[in-house]
Amino acid sequence: MVDEYRELLRASLKSPDSALPCRLLARPQRSSPTYGSSSPTHIAQPGRRGRQGARCDCCNQTYRQMENSVRELNWTLAEVAELYDGASQLAEKYFYGYERLGYWYDDSDDASLEEGAKRLTRKVVDTLGLRGGENLLDAGCGLGAAAIHIVGEYGAQVTGVTISPVEAEKAQTRASELGVSDQARFEVADYHALPFPENHFDAAVAIESLFHAFDLEKALLELHRVLRPGGCVAVAEMAKTSDASQAKKAFPQAREPMTTESWIKEFESAGFVVEERIQSRRAYANTGKRHIDHYDKVSHLLVEEYGEEMTVAIRQGMQEAFQLGPDHLTYMILCARKQ
Ligand SMILES: C[S@@+](CC[C@H](N)C(=O)[O-])C[C@H]1O[C@@H](n2cnc3c(N)ncnc32)[C@H](O)[C@@H]1O
Repeated sequence: MVDEYRELLRASLKSPDSALPCRLLARPQRSSPTYGSSSPTHIAQPGRRGRQGARCDCCNQTYRQMENSVRELNWTLAEVAELYDGASQLAEKYFYGYERLGYWYDDSDDASLEEGAKRLTRKVVDTLGLRGGENLLDAGCGLGAAAIHIVGEYGAQVTGVTISPVEAEKAQTRASELGVSDQARFEVADYHALPFPENHFDAAVAIESLFHAFDLEKALLELHRVLRPGGCVAVAEMAKTSDASQAKKAFPQAREPMTTESWIKEFESAGFVVEERIQSRRAYANTGKRHIDHYDKVSHLLVEEYGEEMTVAIRQGMQEAFQLGPDHLTYMILCARKQ
């Protein structure tokens, strides 16, 4: 599907009279009704004034906007979905359902992997001032571990969206098994085009998910749209310490890391006021060793499940992700309010 999509893009950019397929067409075909299907309406057809004035039926982008985003295209939504469909089993079975960093104070802090992850969730959510019963969006919710933790600890109603159908299903099953499916619901959706009306949520979190945004401006405008006026969004991401940092993108399907200052500018241009900014050296510096030690402890099970080659390759990827050190990468939590 992804290859077909690329082929379509290439062909349509070469020929000025042809229609341009929008990015939603890159989604794989799934039976789930919440998953987009590739219908011919996902195309900006050339109109009477030529294709420059055309708009896509599904995402309402102009042809020009679509063309620009296609030129920047390095990856597709389908590839991100595939990445997390594939990674979800390992995260669920061996990492307590978390697919991101945790928080430890120092080397001798013996908090478990799960507690480390929960501490980081608290740091993010505490910036929001979330009240019991409020309606929270978790944009890029993974396996729902953080969302379910937030339901239990803060008494919020949480809606999690992920681009991975496997994750959404596993998250919903987890919520049912833990008896919180009334307060935590999960669905497949793209945070660039959220299926919610405006002013719908009291608050939102996006924990290590926006680095997959192919159009960050669009994703932030969507978060802004679905938040009620006065509602806050808290975002957690790895950030470059400075423009001189050697930090590189974590996955091929990801953005190049940005500095905290650049993140703040993006939020401001989407209409938010940044009210809080945490820069934690600890989260990045203290997570790597814990994750790799834990991985080594369970690697005999991983070899049985995934084979030797894959087990070694994943470990190598983890080592590379943490090799730069905190002089180059830091952990950023930003809380911003919709005016
Ligand atoms: C590194 S994981 C973080 C998961 C979760 N926030 C956590 O704390 O464990 C990134 C998540 O972002 C989701 N994601 C990436 N691109 C997305 C998009 N365009 N729309 C919705 N979710 C997306 C992935 O499916 C995955 O669940």
